[in-house]
Amino acid sequence: MIRDRLNRPLFDLRLSLIDRCNLRCRYCMPEEVFGPDYAFLPKERLLTPAALERAVRAFVSLGVRKVRLTGGEPLLRPEAVDIVARLARVEGLVDLAMTTNATRLARLAAPLAAAGLRRVNASLDALDPVVFRKMSGGRGHPSRVLEGIDAARAAGLDVKVNTVIRRDLNDSEIEPLADHFRRAGITLRFIEYMDTGNHHGWDHSLTVPAAEILERIGRLHPLEPLPPSAPGEVARRHRYNGLPVEAGVITSITQPFCRDCGRARLSADGRLFTCLFATRGHDLLELLDSRAPVARIAERIREVWGAREDRYSELRASQSEPRDKKVEMSYIGG
Ligand code: GTP
Ligand code: 5AD
Ligand code: SF4
Ligand code: SF4
Repeated sequence: MIRDRLNRPLFDLRLSLIDRCNLRCRYCMPEEVFGPDYAFLPKERLLTPAALERAVRAFVSLGVRKVRLTGGEPLLRPEAVDIVARLARVEGLVDLAMTTNATRLARLAAPLAAAGLRRVNASLDALDPVVFRKMSGGRGHPSRVLEGIDAARAAGLDVKVNTVIRRDLNDSEIEPLADHFRRAGITLRFIEYMDTGNHHGWDHSLTVPAAEILERIGRLHPLEPLPPSAPGEVARRHRYNGLPVEAGVITSITQPFCRDCGRARLSADGRLFTCLFATRGHDLLELLDSRAPVARIAERIREVWGAREDRYSELRASQSEPRDKKVEMSYIGG
């Protein structure tokens, strides 16, 4: 296990498969910026399945046991199922998961499960189609997402749902979503709207604090807090009284969790980032594409991690100027 300057071990890798998405969520890829002229990575620049496997082998050799595939939308990558199959065979990797908008999950859940995927986190910001489309830039439909979630469960995948709440856009959906997933027996996590990237006009007043969300749910269905299921888990877990069903909150704004952050992020073109809010990455492309031994890749990762001292969310409140040129969420996968 390797540690950074703040003594935090590296235990988790988030691997972006592609920077494109078929939705245009207001808080991530607003369509006025991510329009037809936006320069997404060309296909030739995406890490090949073989390079992705070499990256994962290197991270696993350094103690990483958990890999989460992200995007953009990872299921837009045509080789997604093959990539899962390759990575699922890497010895020492215990937890292979994916975060997806679930719009293509109805068709892909069964092949992904057969290829060795164990769990998915599906994003869903509203059950009401009108509110959904306000959040998603007018694309997609909640019923497609719900079908995807059903297919994932039927395929034996462990499923959780993520909801970002933006005040005055979808905060009316807190109670309906909580009700729905409590009844369905699926863990739902509400994520505080964060100041990721550079383009969606985040402002503090648009974040609904987790305490307010929990209070609103608790008025309908009493909740009790649970301990973390793993060290460094981002969500604060709660359980509905008398039911084996959980709801959680991810409190990056009101209660940052940098102290336990052991997550590295690799972009689809092979840059290593040590924080979701980083302004620069470390290029591993050459090493990943070449015939360099996995040990050499691991050595480079060790160097980068050893120099790390990121704790953006803890510092956010004390910064007078917003940090500019942050990496985009859609490029780094959240
Ligand atoms: P589990 O393994 O199921 O707990 O997954 P996860 O919650 O780590 O992953 P997911 O992709 O579902 O992330 C949920 C939300 O947490 C997203 O909005 C992420 O951007 C956010 N998140 C995950 N890791 C970090 C982090 O290190 N820092 C911050 N600020 N947010 C994070
Ligand atoms: N704030 C909070 N969460 C966000 N996500 C994307 N952009 C933001 C933001 N600005 C979430 C997605 C997905 C996860 C990977 O990140 O909804 O669930
Ligand atoms: Fe796409 Fe996810 Fe970003 Fe929404 S949050 S635009 S689904 S990558
Ligand atoms: Fe980790 Fe950066 Fe998020 Fe803090 S802000 S938890 S250091 S990714």
